[in-house]
Amino acid sequence: MCGIIGYIGDKEKKKIIIEGLRELEYRGYDSAGISVFSDNELHSFKTTGKLINLEKKCENFSSSGFGLAIGHTRWATHGKATEINAHPHSAEFSNIVHNGIIENYAILKKDLEKKGHIFLSQTDTEVVVHLFEENLLHLKDSTLAFKETIKALKGSYAILLITKKENDKIFYAKNGSPLIIGTDGSDIYFASSSTPLIGLVKDVCYLEDGEVGYMDKNNFKSLKNIIPLSGTKISSQKDGYRYFMEKEIYEQHKVLQDTISSRILEDKIELNLPKDFLKDINSITICACGTSYHAGLSAKYIFEREAKIKTDAIIASEFRYSNPIMRKDELFIVISQSGETADTLEALKLANKNGLKTLAVCNVENSSMVREAKYSLLTRAGIEKGVASTKAYATQVMLLWILGIYIAEIKQSISKENIKKQIKNMNEAIKATMINPKIHDRLKKLSKRYLHGHGFFFIGRDIFYPLALEGALKLKEISYLHAEGYPGGEMKHGPIALADSELFTISLMPKHLLFDKIKSNTEELASRDATICAISQEIIDIADDMVLIDKFDSYMEEFFAMMIVLQILALEVAIRLGNDVDMPRNLAKSVTVE
Ligand code: AGP
Repeated sequence: MCGIIGYIGDKEKKKIIIEGLRELEYRGYDSAGISVFSDNELHSFKTTGKLINLEKKCENFSSSGFGLAIGHTRWATHGKATEINAHPHSAEFSNIVHNGIIENYAILKKDLEKKGHIFLSQTDTEVVVHLFEENLLHLKDSTLAFKETIKALKGSYAILLITKKENDKIFYAKNGSPLIIGTDGSDIYFASSSTPLIGLVKDVCYLEDGEVGYMDKNNFKSLKNIIPLSGTKISSQKDGYRYFMEKEIYEQHKVLQDTISSRILEDKIELNLPKDFLKDINSITICACGTSYHAGLSAKYIFEREAKIKTDAIIASEFRYSNPIMRKDELFIVISQSGETADTLEALKLANKNGLKTLAVCNVENSSMVREAKYSLLTRAGIEKGVASTKAYATQVMLLWILGIYIAEIKQSISKENIKKQIKNMNEAIKATMINPKIHDRLKKLSKRYLHGHGFFFIGRDIFYPLALEGALKLKEISYLHAEGYPGGEMKHGPIALADSELFTISLMPKHLLFDKIKSNTEELASRDATICAISQEIIDIADDMVLIDKFDSYMEEFFAMMIVLQILALEVAIRLGNDVDMPRNLAKSVTVE
Protein backbone atom coordinates (compact mmCIF):
# COMPACT_ATOMS: atom_id res chain seq x y z
CA MET A 1 0.00 0.00 0.00
CA CYS A 2 1.12 3.65 0.04
CA GLY A 3 4.62 4.30 1.34
CA ILE A 4 6.25 7.42 2.74
CA ILE A 5 9.90 8.42 3.00
CA GLY A 6 11.28 11.72 4.26
CA TYR A 7 14.76 13.13 4.84
CA ILE A 8 16.46 16.17 6.38
CA GLY A 9 20.19 16.48 5.83
CA ASP A 10 23.12 17.07 3.53
CA LYS A 11 23.26 13.81 1.60
CA GLU A 12 21.97 13.37 -1.95
CA LYS A 13 18.27 13.64 -1.18
CA LYS A 14 16.90 12.14 -4.38
CA LYS A 15 18.96 9.01 -3.87
CA ILE A 16 17.90 8.56 -0.26
CA ILE A 17 14.22 8.96 -1.05
CA ILE A 18 14.25 6.63 -4.06
CA GLU A 19 16.25 3.97 -2.24
CA GLY A 20 13.82 4.21 0.66
CA LEU A 21 10.83 3.91 -1.64
CA ARG A 22 12.45 0.88 -3.26
CA GLU A 23 12.45 -0.86 0.13
CA LEU A 24 8.69 -0.30 0.25
CA GLU A 25 8.09 -1.35 -3.36
CA TYR A 26 7.01 -4.88 -2.52
CA ARG A 27 4.06 -3.50 -0.59
CA GLY A 28 2.29 -2.61 -3.85
CA TYR A 29 1.73 0.80 -5.52
CA ASP A 30 0.69 2.24 -8.83
CA SER A 31 2.46 5.63 -8.98
CA ALA A 32 5.30 7.39 -7.23
CA GLY A 33 6.71 10.83 -6.62
CA ILE A 34 9.33 12.90 -4.88
CA SER A 35 9.81 16.55 -3.79
CA VAL A 36 13.16 18.02 -2.87
CA PHE A 37 13.50 21.42 -1.23
CA SER A 38 16.95 22.90 -1.62
CA ASP A 39 18.35 26.32 -2.55
CA ASN A 40 14.92 27.79 -1.82
CA GLU A 41 13.36 25.82 -4.64
CA LEU A 42 10.85 22.98 -4.51
CA HIS A 43 11.57 20.36 -7.19
CA SER A 44 8.84 17.76 -7.76
CA PHE A 45 8.70 14.70 -9.99
CA LYS A 46 5.81 12.25 -10.33
CA THR A 47 5.07 9.27 -12.54
CA THR A 48 2.67 6.39 -12.87
CA GLY A 49 3.90 2.82 -12.73
CA LYS A 50 7.11 1.57 -11.25
CA LEU A 51 9.93 3.48 -9.53
CA ILE A 52 12.15 2.99 -12.53
CA ASN A 53 9.91 5.51 -14.36
CA LEU A 54 10.41 8.03 -11.56
CA GLU A 55 14.15 7.47 -11.61
CA LYS A 56 14.22 8.15 -15.34
CA LYS A 57 12.13 11.27 -14.93
CA CYS A 58 14.50 12.84 -12.44
CA GLU A 59 17.76 11.40 -13.75
CA ASN A 60 19.14 14.85 -14.59
CA PHE A 61 18.23 16.33 -11.24
CA SER A 62 20.56 16.45 -8.27
CA SER A 63 20.83 18.65 -5.20
CA SER A 64 23.83 19.24 -3.03
CA GLY A 65 24.09 20.65 0.45
CA PHE A 66 21.45 20.82 3.13
CA GLY A 67 17.84 20.26 2.20
CA LEU A 68 14.53 18.50 2.80
CA ALA A 69 12.91 15.75 0.78
CA ILE A 70 9.71 13.73 0.81
CA GLY A 71 8.68 10.80 -1.36
CA HIS A 72 5.69 8.55 -1.82
CA THR A 73 4.47 5.40 -3.49
CA ARG A 74 0.71 5.55 -4.02
CA TRP A 75 -1.88 2.78 -4.04
CA ALA A 76 -4.92 4.50 -5.48
CA THR A 77 -7.94 5.04 -3.23
CA HIS A 78 -9.47 8.39 -4.28
CA GLY A 79 -8.98 8.89 -8.00
CA LYS A 80 -7.31 6.70 -10.60
CA ALA A 81 -3.64 5.84 -10.75
CA THR A 82 -2.65 8.86 -12.86
CA GLU A 83 0.34 11.17 -12.69
CA ILE A 84 -1.81 14.06 -11.47
CA ASN A 85 -3.17 11.94 -8.63
CA ALA A 86 0.31 10.77 -7.60
CA HIS A 87 1.89 12.35 -4.51
CA PRO A 88 3.45 14.76 -3.55
CA HIS A 89 0.55 17.18 -3.97
CA SER A 90 1.21 20.88 -4.10
CA ALA A 91 -0.50 24.15 -3.45
CA GLU A 92 1.29 27.42 -4.12
CA PHE A 93 4.45 26.95 -2.06
CA SER A 94 4.07 23.69 -0.13
CA ASN A 95 4.11 19.97 -0.91
CA ILE A 96 2.61 17.05 0.91
CA VAL A 97 2.65 13.24 0.97
CA HIS A 98 -0.06 11.30 2.76
CA ASN A 99 -1.00 7.72 3.58
CA GLY A 100 -4.55 6.97 4.69
CA ILE A 101 -7.91 8.46 3.83
CA ILE A 102 -9.27 11.92 4.68
CA GLU A 103 -12.95 11.15 5.11
CA ASN A 104 -14.20 14.75 5.21
CA TYR A 105 -12.16 15.93 2.24
CA ALA A 106 -15.20 16.73 0.09
CA ILE A 107 -16.57 19.33 2.56
CA LEU A 108 -13.13 20.85 3.07
CA LYS A 109 -12.57 21.00 -0.66
CA LYS A 110 -15.87 22.79 -1.32
CA ASP A 111 -15.02 25.36 1.30
CA LEU A 112 -11.54 25.94 -0.10
CA GLU A 113 -12.85 26.21 -3.65
CA LYS A 114 -15.15 29.01 -2.49
CA LYS A 115 -12.04 30.77 -1.21
CA GLY A 116 -10.42 30.52 -4.61
CA HIS A 117 -8.27 27.39 -4.30
CA ILE A 118 -7.96 25.41 -7.51
CA PHE A 119 -7.57 21.65 -7.33
CA LEU A 120 -5.89 19.58 -9.98
CA SER A 121 -6.28 16.04 -8.71
CA GLN A 122 -9.16 13.81 -7.62
CA THR A 123 -7.43 12.95 -4.37
CA ASP A 124 -8.37 13.63 -0.78
CA THR A 125 -4.75 14.56 -0.05
CA GLU A 126 -4.56 17.70 -2.16
CA VAL A 127 -7.11 19.32 0.16
CA VAL A 128 -4.70 19.13 3.11
CA VAL A 129 -1.91 21.14 1.51
CA HIS A 130 -4.37 23.82 0.37
CA LEU A 131 -5.92 23.98 3.80
CA PHE A 132 -2.46 24.45 5.28
CA GLU A 133 -1.75 27.42 3.02
CA GLU A 134 -5.17 28.89 3.71
CA ASN A 135 -4.58 28.61 7.47
CA LEU A 136 -1.11 30.08 7.11
CA LEU A 137 -2.61 33.13 5.46
CA HIS A 138 -4.52 33.89 8.64
CA LEU A 139 -2.29 32.49 11.35
CA LYS A 140 1.04 33.65 9.90
CA ASP A 141 2.85 30.82 11.67
CA SER A 142 3.59 27.53 9.90
CA THR A 143 3.43 25.35 13.01
CA LEU A 144 0.11 26.81 14.14
CA ALA A 145 -1.25 26.59 10.60
CA PHE A 146 -0.20 22.93 10.31
CA LYS A 147 -1.72 22.01 13.67
CA GLU A 148 -4.95 23.82 12.77
CA THR A 149 -5.03 21.92 9.48
CA ILE A 150 -4.61 18.56 11.16
CA LYS A 151 -7.33 19.43 13.67
CA ALA A 152 -9.80 19.81 10.79
CA LEU A 153 -9.12 16.35 9.35
CA LYS A 154 -11.30 13.29 9.89
CA GLY A 155 -9.98 9.89 8.93
CA SER A 156 -6.61 8.19 8.98
CA TYR A 157 -3.33 9.73 8.01
CA ALA A 158 0.41 9.75 8.10
CA ILE A 159 1.45 13.08 6.64
CA LEU A 160 4.69 14.84 5.76
CA LEU A 161 4.58 18.43 4.55
CA ILE A 162 7.34 20.74 3.37
CA THR A 163 6.88 24.42 2.65
CA LYS A 164 9.01 27.14 1.14
CA LYS A 165 8.20 29.20 4.25
CA GLU A 166 10.38 26.89 6.40
CA ASN A 167 13.59 25.70 4.85
CA ASP A 168 14.75 23.42 7.67
CA LYS A 169 11.57 21.69 8.86
CA ILE A 170 9.37 18.79 7.83
CA PHE A 171 5.90 18.89 9.36
CA TYR A 172 4.40 15.56 10.35
CA ALA A 173 1.13 14.18 11.69
CA LYS A 174 -0.05 10.68 12.45
CA ASN A 175 -3.43 9.14 13.07
CA GLY A 176 -4.23 5.53 12.25
CA SER A 177 -1.47 5.08 9.63
CA PRO A 178 2.07 4.27 10.76
CA LEU A 179 4.86 6.85 10.73
CA ILE A 180 8.36 6.54 12.12
CA ILE A 181 11.05 9.18 12.63
CA GLY A 182 14.67 8.09 12.96
CA THR A 183 18.14 9.57 13.21
CA ASP A 184 21.69 8.43 12.66
CA GLY A 185 22.77 11.05 15.19
CA SER A 186 22.87 13.80 12.63
CA ASP A 187 20.36 13.50 9.78
CA ILE A 188 16.64 12.86 10.16
CA TYR A 189 14.71 10.17 8.32
CA PHE A 190 10.98 9.44 8.10
CA ALA A 191 9.32 6.25 6.89
CA SER A 192 5.97 4.56 7.01
CA SER A 193 7.58 1.28 8.04
CA SER A 194 10.88 0.38 9.67
CA THR A 195 12.28 -1.63 6.73
CA PRO A 196 13.80 1.33 4.84
CA LEU A 197 15.35 2.67 8.05
CA ILE A 198 17.26 -0.47 8.98
CA GLY A 199 20.95 0.19 8.56
CA LEU A 200 20.42 3.95 8.11
CA VAL A 201 19.44 5.09 11.59
CA LYS A 202 20.36 4.21 15.15
CA ASP A 203 17.31 5.48 17.00
CA VAL A 204 13.67 5.70 16.08
CA CYS A 205 10.41 6.95 17.42
CA TYR A 206 7.22 5.17 16.40
CA LEU A 207 4.76 8.05 16.48
CA GLU A 208 1.52 7.56 18.37
CA ASP A 209 -1.90 8.49 17.03
CA GLY A 210 -2.56 12.19 17.53
CA GLU A 211 1.09 13.25 17.35
CA VAL A 212 1.60 16.32 15.23
CA GLY A 213 4.50 18.74 14.95
CA TYR A 214 7.62 19.50 13.02
CA MET A 215 11.08 18.01 12.93
CA ASP A 216 14.36 19.72 12.19
CA LYS A 217 17.92 18.51 12.72
CA ASN A 218 17.92 19.60 16.36
CA ASN A 219 14.70 18.47 17.96
CA PHE A 220 14.70 14.68 17.55
CA LYS A 221 15.40 14.28 21.26
CA SER A 222 12.15 16.05 22.11
CA LEU A 223 10.19 13.05 20.79
CA LYS A 224 8.65 10.61 23.26
CA ASN A 225 9.64 6.93 23.40
CA ILE A 226 12.86 6.94 21.40
CA ILE A 227 14.20 3.42 21.02
CA PRO A 228 17.15 1.87 19.21
CA LEU A 229 16.27 0.29 15.87
CA SER A 230 17.42 -3.30 15.87
CA GLY A 231 17.75 -5.64 12.93
CA THR A 232 20.07 -5.96 10.01
CA LYS A 233 19.23 -5.41 6.40
CA ILE A 234 18.33 -8.77 5.05
CA SER A 235 19.13 -9.76 1.53
CA SER A 236 16.46 -8.78 -0.89
CA GLN A 237 17.75 -11.18 -3.51
CA LYS A 238 15.68 -13.92 -5.02
CA ASP A 239 18.57 -16.35 -4.56
CA GLY A 240 17.98 -18.07 -7.89
CA TYR A 241 14.22 -18.39 -7.48
CA ARG A 242 12.01 -16.85 -10.13
CA TYR A 243 9.96 -14.85 -7.65
CA PHE A 244 10.13 -13.85 -4.01
CA MET A 245 6.96 -15.84 -3.48
CA GLU A 246 8.70 -18.98 -4.72
CA LYS A 247 11.68 -18.30 -2.48
CA GLU A 248 9.35 -17.77 0.46
CA ILE A 249 7.50 -21.03 -0.23
CA TYR A 250 10.84 -22.85 -0.18
CA GLU A 251 11.92 -21.10 3.02
CA GLN A 252 9.00 -22.36 5.03
CA HIS A 253 10.63 -25.33 6.72
CA LYS A 254 13.41 -23.00 7.91
CA VAL A 255 11.24 -20.22 9.27
CA LEU A 256 8.97 -22.76 10.94
CA GLN A 257 12.02 -23.97 12.85
CA ASP A 258 12.51 -20.39 14.01
CA THR A 259 8.86 -20.22 15.05
CA ILE A 260 9.10 -23.25 17.30
CA SER A 261 12.61 -22.54 18.54
CA SER A 262 12.71 -22.27 22.36
CA ARG A 263 8.93 -22.57 22.39
CA ILE A 264 8.53 -26.32 22.11
CA LEU A 265 10.56 -28.60 24.31
CA GLU A 266 10.36 -32.37 24.37
CA ASP A 267 7.23 -32.59 26.48
CA LYS A 268 6.14 -29.07 27.16
CA ILE A 269 5.47 -25.72 25.61
CA GLU A 270 7.01 -22.48 26.77
CA LEU A 271 5.57 -19.20 25.63
CA ASN A 272 6.50 -15.76 26.77
CA LEU A 273 2.98 -15.26 28.00
CA PRO A 274 2.09 -15.22 31.70
CA LYS A 275 -0.04 -18.19 32.70
CA ASP A 276 -2.20 -15.85 34.82
CA PHE A 277 -3.11 -13.94 31.72
CA LEU A 278 -4.72 -17.04 30.22
CA LYS A 279 -5.95 -18.88 33.30
CA ASP A 280 -9.39 -17.33 33.65
CA ILE A 281 -10.39 -16.93 30.05
CA ASN A 282 -13.64 -18.59 29.05
CA SER A 283 -13.74 -17.85 25.38
CA ILE A 284 -11.54 -16.61 22.57
CA THR A 285 -12.28 -14.23 19.71
CA ILE A 286 -9.86 -14.11 16.81
CA CYS A 287 -9.92 -11.15 14.47
CA ALA A 288 -7.91 -10.78 11.25
CA CYS A 289 -8.14 -10.20 7.49
CA GLY A 290 -7.35 -12.27 4.41
CA THR A 291 -4.79 -14.99 4.84
CA SER A 292 -4.32 -14.12 8.50
CA TYR A 293 -8.04 -14.69 8.99
CA HIS A 294 -7.65 -18.13 7.41
CA ALA A 295 -4.91 -18.91 9.92
CA GLY A 296 -7.29 -17.71 12.65
CA LEU A 297 -10.07 -19.96 11.39
CA SER A 298 -7.68 -22.93 11.54
CA ALA A 299 -6.88 -21.98 15.12
CA LYS A 300 -10.57 -22.15 16.01
CA TYR A 301 -10.52 -25.88 15.24
CA ILE A 302 -7.34 -26.41 17.27
CA PHE A 303 -8.44 -24.31 20.27
CA GLU A 304 -11.83 -25.99 20.51
CA ARG A 305 -10.51 -29.50 19.95
CA GLU A 306 -7.44 -29.38 22.18
CA ALA A 307 -8.07 -26.58 24.68
CA LYS A 308 -11.84 -27.13 24.80
CA ILE A 309 -12.43 -23.43 24.71
CA LYS A 310 -15.16 -21.72 22.71
CA THR A 311 -13.54 -19.78 19.89
CA ASP A 312 -14.85 -17.48 17.19
CA ALA A 313 -12.84 -16.28 14.22
CA ILE A 314 -14.17 -13.09 12.67
CA ILE A 315 -13.08 -10.96 9.72
CA ALA A 316 -11.89 -7.69 11.25
CA SER A 317 -13.84 -5.36 8.94
CA GLU A 318 -17.04 -7.19 9.90
CA PHE A 319 -16.25 -7.20 13.60
CA ARG A 320 -15.70 -3.46 13.91
CA TYR A 321 -19.16 -2.25 13.02
CA SER A 322 -21.26 -5.15 14.31
CA ASN A 323 -21.64 -3.87 17.88
CA PRO A 324 -19.87 -7.02 19.06
CA ILE A 325 -20.58 -8.43 22.48
CA MET A 326 -17.30 -8.36 24.38
CA ARG A 327 -16.79 -10.08 27.69
CA LYS A 328 -14.03 -9.40 30.17
CA ASP A 329 -13.23 -13.12 30.45
CA GLU A 330 -12.57 -13.31 26.74
CA LEU A 331 -9.15 -13.50 25.12
CA PHE A 332 -9.04 -11.34 22.03
CA ILE A 333 -6.40 -12.39 19.49
CA VAL A 334 -5.47 -10.42 16.41
CA ILE A 335 -3.39 -12.07 13.71
CA SER A 336 -1.41 -10.06 11.20
CA GLN A 337 1.70 -10.42 9.13
CA SER A 338 2.31 -6.67 8.93
CA GLY A 339 0.80 -5.59 12.23
CA GLU A 340 -0.56 -2.53 10.41
CA THR A 341 -3.76 -3.71 8.70
CA ALA A 342 -6.21 -0.92 9.48
CA ASP A 343 -9.30 -3.02 10.15
CA THR A 344 -7.48 -5.46 12.41
CA LEU A 345 -5.74 -2.66 14.28
CA GLU A 346 -9.02 -0.84 14.89
CA ALA A 347 -10.67 -4.06 16.09
CA LEU A 348 -7.81 -4.47 18.54
CA LYS A 349 -8.24 -0.92 19.81
CA LEU A 350 -11.93 -1.60 20.32
CA ALA A 351 -11.14 -4.72 22.34
CA ASN A 352 -8.64 -2.82 24.45
CA LYS A 353 -11.17 -0.07 25.06
CA ASN A 354 -13.62 -2.69 26.31
CA GLY A 355 -11.08 -4.12 28.73
CA LEU A 356 -10.54 -7.49 27.02
CA LYS A 357 -7.31 -9.43 27.35
CA THR A 358 -5.59 -8.76 24.05
CA LEU A 359 -2.87 -10.66 22.24
CA ALA A 360 -1.25 -9.95 18.86
CA VAL A 361 0.14 -12.80 16.78
CA CYS A 362 2.30 -10.84 14.42
CA ASN A 363 5.36 -10.98 12.18
CA VAL A 364 6.65 -7.46 12.68
CA GLU A 365 8.28 -6.40 15.89
CA ASN A 366 7.30 -2.90 16.99
CA SER A 367 4.39 -2.79 14.56
CA SER A 368 1.27 -0.89 15.60
CA MET A 369 -0.53 -4.07 16.69
CA VAL A 370 2.39 -5.33 18.73
CA ARG A 371 2.52 -1.98 20.48
CA GLU A 372 -1.24 -1.82 20.97
CA ALA A 373 -1.88 -5.34 22.29
CA LYS A 374 -1.37 -6.26 25.92
CA TYR A 375 0.86 -9.16 24.88
CA SER A 376 2.28 -10.30 21.60
CA LEU A 377 3.82 -13.41 20.06
CA LEU A 378 6.07 -12.99 17.04
CA THR A 379 5.71 -15.49 14.22
CA ARG A 380 9.37 -15.06 13.11
CA ALA A 381 8.75 -15.59 9.39
CA GLY A 382 11.26 -12.89 8.42
CA ILE A 383 10.42 -10.20 5.88
CA GLU A 384 7.82 -11.47 3.44
CA LYS A 385 8.03 -9.69 0.10
CA GLY A 386 5.54 -11.56 -2.05
CA VAL A 387 2.18 -9.85 -1.79
CA ALA A 388 0.59 -13.28 -1.63
CA SER A 389 1.37 -14.49 1.86
CA THR A 390 2.94 -17.93 2.21
CA LYS A 391 5.58 -18.28 4.90
CA ALA A 392 3.82 -15.77 7.16
CA TYR A 393 0.70 -17.94 6.98
CA ALA A 394 2.62 -21.14 7.74
CA THR A 395 4.21 -19.59 10.82
CA GLN A 396 0.89 -18.16 11.98
CA VAL A 397 -0.77 -21.58 11.88
CA MET A 398 2.20 -23.15 13.66
CA LEU A 399 2.31 -20.50 16.38
CA LEU A 400 -1.44 -20.68 16.93
CA TRP A 401 -1.18 -24.45 17.21
CA ILE A 402 1.53 -24.00 19.85
CA LEU A 403 -0.64 -21.44 21.63
CA GLY A 404 -3.63 -23.80 21.54
CA ILE A 405 -1.66 -26.53 23.29
CA TYR A 406 -0.24 -24.00 25.75
CA ILE A 407 -3.75 -22.87 26.67
CA ALA A 408 -4.90 -26.49 26.85
CA GLU A 409 -2.11 -27.19 29.33
CA ILE A 410 -3.02 -24.18 31.49
CA LYS A 411 -6.69 -25.14 31.37
CA GLN A 412 -5.75 -28.76 32.13
CA SER A 413 -7.82 -29.97 29.24
CA ILE A 414 -5.06 -32.05 27.67
CA SER A 415 -3.20 -35.12 28.85
CA LYS A 416 0.60 -35.28 29.16
CA GLU A 417 0.67 -37.96 26.42
CA ASN A 418 -1.31 -35.78 24.08
CA ILE A 419 1.03 -32.82 24.65
CA LYS A 420 3.96 -35.07 23.74
CA LYS A 421 2.13 -36.31 20.68
CA GLN A 422 1.27 -32.78 19.56
CA ILE A 423 4.90 -31.70 19.94
CA LYS A 424 6.04 -34.67 17.91
CA ASN A 425 3.46 -33.83 15.24
CA MET A 426 4.66 -30.21 15.15
CA ASN A 427 8.19 -31.34 14.41
CA GLU A 428 6.94 -33.77 11.79
CA ALA A 429 4.70 -31.09 10.24
CA ILE A 430 7.75 -28.91 9.69
CA LYS A 431 9.43 -31.78 7.86
CA ALA A 432 6.30 -32.04 5.71
CA THR A 433 7.04 -28.56 4.34
CA MET A 434 10.37 -29.69 2.83
CA ILE A 435 9.58 -29.59 -0.85
CA ASN A 436 9.89 -32.77 -2.84
CA PRO A 437 11.12 -31.69 -6.33
CA LYS A 438 8.96 -34.40 -7.90
CA ILE A 439 5.84 -32.78 -6.46
CA HIS A 440 6.90 -29.36 -7.72
CA ASP A 441 7.52 -30.83 -11.19
CA ARG A 442 4.19 -32.58 -11.11
CA LEU A 443 2.43 -29.31 -10.24
CA LYS A 444 4.31 -27.43 -12.95
CA LYS A 445 3.05 -29.96 -15.52
CA LEU A 446 -0.43 -30.08 -14.06
CA SER A 447 -0.79 -26.30 -14.04
CA LYS A 448 -1.20 -26.13 -17.82
CA ARG A 449 -4.46 -28.04 -17.54
CA TYR A 450 -5.96 -25.49 -15.21
CA LEU A 451 -5.71 -22.23 -17.10
CA HIS A 452 -9.21 -22.07 -18.50
CA GLY A 453 -12.66 -23.14 -17.34
CA HIS A 454 -15.14 -21.07 -15.42
CA GLY A 455 -13.73 -21.37 -11.97
CA PHE A 456 -12.32 -23.41 -9.14
CA PHE A 457 -13.81 -24.89 -6.02
CA PHE A 458 -11.36 -25.71 -3.28
CA ILE A 459 -13.01 -28.03 -0.80
CA GLY A 460 -12.02 -29.39 2.57
CA ARG A 461 -13.54 -30.34 5.89
CA ASP A 462 -12.75 -29.34 9.45
CA ILE A 463 -9.37 -27.56 9.58
CA PHE A 464 -8.93 -28.34 5.89
CA TYR A 465 -11.82 -25.99 5.15
CA PRO A 466 -9.82 -22.85 6.10
CA LEU A 467 -6.93 -24.37 4.16
CA ALA A 468 -9.26 -24.66 1.16
CA LEU A 469 -10.17 -20.98 1.61
CA GLU A 470 -6.48 -20.12 1.67
CA GLY A 471 -5.75 -22.24 -1.43
CA ALA A 472 -8.53 -20.43 -3.31
CA LEU A 473 -7.29 -17.03 -2.15
CA LYS A 474 -3.71 -17.80 -3.24
CA LEU A 475 -4.91 -18.83 -6.68
CA LYS A 476 -7.17 -15.84 -7.23
CA GLU A 477 -4.64 -13.31 -5.91
CA ILE A 478 -1.93 -14.16 -8.39
CA SER A 479 -3.69 -15.90 -11.29
CA TYR A 480 -6.82 -13.67 -11.39
CA LEU A 481 -8.90 -16.82 -11.94
CA HIS A 482 -12.13 -17.18 -10.05
CA ALA A 483 -11.76 -19.54 -7.11
CA GLU A 484 -13.85 -20.23 -4.01
CA GLY A 485 -13.17 -22.24 -0.92
CA TYR A 486 -15.99 -24.28 0.57
CA PRO A 487 -16.55 -26.80 3.32
CA GLY A 488 -16.95 -30.11 1.45
CA GLY A 489 -20.30 -30.81 3.08
CA GLU A 490 -21.77 -27.50 1.94
CA MET A 491 -21.54 -28.11 -1.80
CA LYS A 492 -24.90 -29.83 -2.09
CA HIS A 493 -26.59 -26.81 -0.50
CA GLY A 494 -26.18 -24.73 -3.60
CA PRO A 495 -22.70 -24.46 -5.11
CA ILE A 496 -22.94 -27.91 -6.72
CA ALA A 497 -25.35 -26.33 -9.22
CA LEU A 498 -22.25 -24.99 -10.98
CA ALA A 499 -20.67 -28.41 -11.41
CA ASP A 500 -19.65 -29.39 -14.93
CA SER A 501 -16.43 -30.46 -16.62
CA GLU A 502 -15.19 -26.87 -16.85
CA LEU A 503 -15.49 -26.43 -13.11
CA PHE A 504 -12.27 -27.51 -11.43
CA THR A 505 -12.49 -28.91 -7.93
CA ILE A 506 -9.37 -29.10 -5.84
CA SER A 507 -10.25 -31.53 -3.09
CA LEU A 508 -8.18 -31.72 0.09
CA MET A 509 -8.46 -35.31 1.21
CA PRO A 510 -6.46 -36.04 4.35
CA LYS A 511 -6.26 -39.68 5.34
CA HIS A 512 -6.31 -38.84 9.04
CA LEU A 513 -9.33 -36.56 9.27
CA LEU A 514 -12.85 -37.25 7.97
CA PHE A 515 -11.47 -39.03 4.92
CA ASP A 516 -14.72 -40.88 4.12
CA LYS A 517 -16.75 -37.70 4.46
CA ILE A 518 -14.66 -35.63 2.06
CA LYS A 519 -14.52 -38.63 -0.27
CA SER A 520 -18.33 -38.69 -0.49
CA ASN A 521 -18.43 -34.93 -1.06
CA THR A 522 -15.87 -35.29 -3.85
CA GLU A 523 -17.84 -38.16 -5.39
CA GLU A 524 -20.97 -36.01 -5.42
CA LEU A 525 -19.12 -33.48 -7.56
CA ALA A 526 -17.44 -36.11 -9.76
CA SER A 527 -20.77 -37.71 -10.56
CA ARG A 528 -21.96 -34.32 -11.84
CA ASP A 529 -18.99 -34.23 -14.18
CA ALA A 530 -16.88 -31.68 -12.29
CA THR A 531 -13.17 -32.07 -13.03
CA ILE A 532 -11.54 -33.29 -9.83
CA CYS A 533 -7.97 -32.75 -8.76
CA ALA A 534 -7.45 -34.60 -5.50
CA ILE A 535 -4.64 -33.89 -3.06
CA SER A 536 -4.13 -36.88 -0.83
CA GLN A 537 -1.74 -39.55 0.35
CA GLU A 538 -4.26 -42.14 -0.85
CA ILE A 539 -4.93 -42.87 -4.52
CA ILE A 540 -8.37 -41.49 -5.31
CA ASP A 541 -10.01 -43.46 -8.14
CA ILE A 542 -12.66 -40.92 -8.97
CA ALA A 543 -10.15 -38.09 -9.44
CA ASP A 544 -9.25 -36.81 -12.91
CA ASP A 545 -5.91 -35.62 -11.58
CA MET A 546 -4.02 -36.41 -8.43
CA VAL A 547 -1.30 -34.79 -6.43
CA LEU A 548 0.04 -37.57 -4.29
CA ILE A 549 1.66 -36.28 -1.10
CA ASP A 550 4.01 -38.37 1.05
CA LYS A 551 2.74 -40.77 3.71
CA PHE A 552 2.10 -39.04 7.02
CA ASP A 553 0.86 -40.20 10.40
CA SER A 554 -1.19 -37.18 11.47
CA TYR A 555 -3.61 -34.80 9.85
CA MET A 556 -1.55 -31.72 10.77
CA GLU A 557 1.38 -33.12 8.78
CA GLU A 558 -1.03 -33.61 5.89
CA PHE A 559 -2.23 -30.03 6.45
CA PHE A 560 1.24 -28.52 6.04
CA ALA A 561 2.08 -30.79 3.09
CA MET A 562 -1.13 -29.77 1.32
CA MET A 563 -0.48 -26.12 2.09
CA ILE A 564 2.73 -26.40 0.06
CA VAL A 565 0.88 -28.05 -2.82
CA LEU A 566 -1.71 -25.27 -2.92
CA GLN A 567 0.91 -22.54 -2.85
CA ILE A 568 2.96 -24.11 -5.65
CA LEU A 569 -0.14 -24.80 -7.74
CA ALA A 570 -1.14 -21.11 -7.54
CA LEU A 571 2.43 -20.06 -8.33
CA GLU A 572 2.75 -22.27 -11.40
CA VAL A 573 -0.67 -21.32 -12.80
CA ALA A 574 0.17 -17.61 -12.37
CA ILE A 575 3.58 -18.02 -14.00
CA ARG A 576 2.03 -19.79 -16.99
CA LEU A 577 -0.46 -16.94 -17.33
CA GLY A 578 2.44 -14.48 -17.41
CA ASN A 579 1.37 -12.56 -14.29
CA ASP A 580 3.57 -10.56 -11.95
CA VAL A 581 3.52 -13.06 -9.11
CA ASP A 582 5.16 -10.84 -6.50
CA MET A 583 3.14 -7.73 -7.22
CA PRO A 584 -0.25 -8.85 -8.47
CA ARG A 585 -2.56 -6.26 -9.94
CA ASN A 586 -4.71 -4.20 -7.56
CA LEU A 587 -3.15 -5.69 -4.43
CA ALA A 588 -1.00 -4.21 -1.71
CA LYS A 589 1.09 -6.00 0.86
CA SER A 590 -0.05 -4.00 3.82
CA VAL A 591 -3.57 -2.62 3.78
CA THR A 592 -3.46 0.47 5.97
CA VAL A 593 -6.81 1.91 4.95
CA GLU A 594 -10.16 0.46 5.91
C1 AGP B 1 -2.46 -12.59 1.64
O1 AGP B 1 -2.01 -13.34 0.57
C2 AGP B 1 -2.99 -11.30 1.35
N1 AGP B 1 -2.30 -10.56 0.41
C3 AGP B 1 -3.89 -10.60 2.34
O2 AGP B 1 -5.07 -11.33 2.36
C4 AGP B 1 -3.37 -10.40 3.79
O3 AGP B 1 -3.28 -11.62 4.43
C5 AGP B 1 -4.32 -9.45 4.52
O4 AGP B 1 -4.35 -8.22 3.87
C6 AGP B 1 -3.96 -9.27 5.97
O5 AGP B 1 -2.70 -8.72 6.12
P1 AGP B 1 -1.92 -8.80 7.48
O6 AGP B 1 -1.65 -10.22 7.77
O7 AGP B 1 -0.67 -8.01 7.25
O8 AGP B 1 -2.80 -8.16 8.52
